[in-house]
Amino acid sequence: MVQLRYDGKVAIVTGAGGGLGKTYALELAKRGCKVVVNDLGGDRHGTSSSTSMADKVVQEIKAAGGQAVANYDSVEFGEKIVKTAIDAFGRIDIVINNAGILRDVSLLKMKDVDWDLIFQVHVKGAFSVTRAAWPYMRDQKYGRIIVTSSNAAIYGNFGQTNYSAAKSALIGFANSLAKEGEKYNIKANTLVPTAGSRLTQTVMPEDLVNALKPEYVTPLTLYMAHESFPETGKVYEAGAGWYGQLLYYRSNGKVVTNASVEDVANNWTAISDMKNAHSLSYMKDATAHLMDALAAQEEANEKANASGGASTGT
Ligand code: NAI
Repeated sequence: MVQLRYDGKVAIVTGAGGGLGKTYALELAKRGCKVVVNDLGGDRHGTSSSTSMADKVVQEIKAAGGQAVANYDSVEFGEKIVKTAIDAFGRIDIVINNAGILRDVSLLKMKDVDWDLIFQVHVKGAFSVTRAAWPYMRDQKYGRIIVTSSNAAIYGNFGQTNYSAAKSALIGFANSLAKEGEKYNIKANTLVPTAGSRLTQTVMPEDLVNALKPEYVTPLTLYMAHESFPETGKVYEAGAGWYGQLLYYRSNGKVVTNASVEDVANNWTAISDMKNAHSLSYMKDATAHLMDALAAQEEANEKANASGGASTGT
């Protein structure tokens, strides 16, 4: 297979001063992409800043013959980050929303600042950078957007209600962006990575942090950012060299007309049976299914009216 290249393309990688983001920036640059290396350079809790992290990655890219420019703004200020791309390279094709922090604490001990900072960096950050890049992508009819979610969003994790909620929000964000981007050839997808990094040092044993190299995630992220990537509105997972897809499945369920609470309880096996479950791509497909249910409901009501009695639980 020919090498997948990014010549002529410009990427913003947020939080690219270390961990996963750094590997994306280095690999993109190696393959001809011009890269904005964004990093606030703070600690893992989001409370400080420095220019050195981004600078080091830019130096490394340039030393290897690549093109990159540093940006030190927080992702909450997406306009400034996109301006760096436009000023330096004149366009923006790829946004990898990767910057992240953790403020793990169980719910009752969670302060407002723990909740707000997590949402500011992960959700507001991805929104802000993507919104600023969107007009350029729309006008050039080309864009690749990646948001970074987490298994904590999918399965939940003790001490991470703030982080899980924010990472779930990003899946919805990307899914809606995919719909908005359809007619402009802008593809938006979600990545769920697992890797040893400064962030996961606090939640993983040291040997696992060392073994789970961020580089095992990088190839999928780069493919998702490539012009040949065919998908949009999807969720992919990568870690330890394993790559896969995640999908929501909906049970066939059951229409129970004029149901009481007891009718729902009595029909629980059929309602929750995931045999023959299916996945839908559009909200309108989910709604169409409800319209069928509504028709059955109305038919039951008409029959009940005609016979003069109430119809329940069928
Ligand atoms: P990391 O801590 O090595 O990298 C995150 C980078 O984001 C840091 O360099 C940090 O300085 C930067 N950053 C933080 N706040 C910023 C802000 N406001 N503006 C700009 N830059 C900022 O962590 P890692 O593991 O590489 O994480 C990358 C992304 O992957 C994060 O979004 C994280 O939540 C996500 N993730 C990572 C997993 C893992 O196993 N490493 C698992 C699931 C998700």
